[in-house]
Amino acid sequence: MAHKPVPELKPVPRLLMGPGPINAYPQVLRAMSVQLLGQFDPQFRRYMAETSALYRQVFRTRNRQTLMVDGTARAGIEAALVSLIEPGDKVLVAVFGRFGHLLAEIASRCGAVVRTIETPWGTVFEPEAIERAVKKHRPKLVATCQGDTSTTMAQPLAEIGRICARYGAFSYVDATATLGGMPLPVARWGLDVVSAGLQKCLGGPSGIAPMTISDRAAAAIYRRRHIEQGLQKKGYRPGRGPRIRSNYFDLAMIMDYWSEQALNHHTEATTMLYAARECARLLLAEGLEHAFARHAAASRLVLAGLRELELEPYGDLAHKMPNVTGVWIPQGVDGERVRHRMLERHNIEIGTSFGPLHGKIWRIGAMGANARPAAVRRTFAALRQVLRGERRR
Ligand SMILES: Cc1ncc(COP(=O)(O)O)c(C=O)c1O
Repeated sequence: MAHKPVPELKPVPRLLMGPGPINAYPQVLRAMSVQLLGQFDPQFRRYMAETSALYRQVFRTRNRQTLMVDGTARAGIEAALVSLIEPGDKVLVAVFGRFGHLLAEIASRCGAVVRTIETPWGTVFEPEAIERAVKKHRPKLVATCQGDTSTTMAQPLAEIGRICARYGAFSYVDATATLGGMPLPVARWGLDVVSAGLQKCLGGPSGIAPMTISDRAAAAIYRRRHIEQGLQKKGYRPGRGPRIRSNYFDLAMIMDYWSEQALNHHTEATTMLYAARECARLLLAEGLEHAFARHAAASRLVLAGLRELELEPYGDLAHKMPNVTGVWIPQGVDGERVRHRMLERHNIEIGTSFGPLHGKIWRIGAMGANARPAAVRRTFAALRQVLRGERRR
């Protein structure tokens, strides 16, 4: 039987104005078409070192251990948690949306005794509430998101590192949704481990997770260093701590792999490393402060667009992420039909949300390459038309 040939990829271009992914910068796509290199080629090792150095600037830290975990942002979360948590450790998770629940779930899969504090969706925590919980539970690790895309809220983090240090806990922050879009000075805020993805404010595809690890956290992880059999050299002594329960996400091994000794682990996702390097290079060439201001300006434009359409923004606006805005779907409007029409008639993607907010809010993202007036205006022109049709029904 003759098979119909499958054509080359040629999707209708979409403007991605949801909570991520978003359209990648053309320079990032170009970097991804650069030919592969072997992972131990000195040229490639130099690109790895450059990528570490660039992300030190993005995270505003001098952490030696600033590296990439291959896999989507969730891979960064899993690597951080499985490497920090020893079974039986107490972990406190501050949950203000779906991704906080994800942290709690992953921590419990790592064998942690998980304690959570929750605040109603659409709000964030006062630092005192987190401090009270840390004081009560005395966890080894406190985990939270900076921005929880499900609710579009951003948790203030300036105090969190200090609170954790005061009670001898490590801090972990999931900055997938915010890195590059709002300030996250890791050293100044004293955060231990922070991970992210490229597909939001950094303007790249998902598939690699930039991460930074404080010396103190790196030492705790390194205590659990166990080199694979077949790679061990004479005289090797494993770390005293229990072996990390994942091979792929073992940060002790990943740190060795990124170190000068270049101890073999996985085959680096070359193309994703090129993308990560280009995202950071572009962000730093623009300037972090400029990029934050651009995201904040796009956010104001989104809010102005909502006012014009008499749509109500969702949640506590004082703590809204600058790059994603939640919008209540008006009574009598079929939110999914609107999203469908935005996509099919206008080639624009916007999001809905999860769990209790599914079908109740839309989420409009203006981030990375799309945190620009032209992209926001095009989105609102289309939304105006689609809503006019809906309201006539
Ligand atoms: C805050 C947050 N954390 C984690 C993730 C998971 O990222 P990924 O889908 O790249 O694994 C997302 C994705 O939207 C997110 O918004």
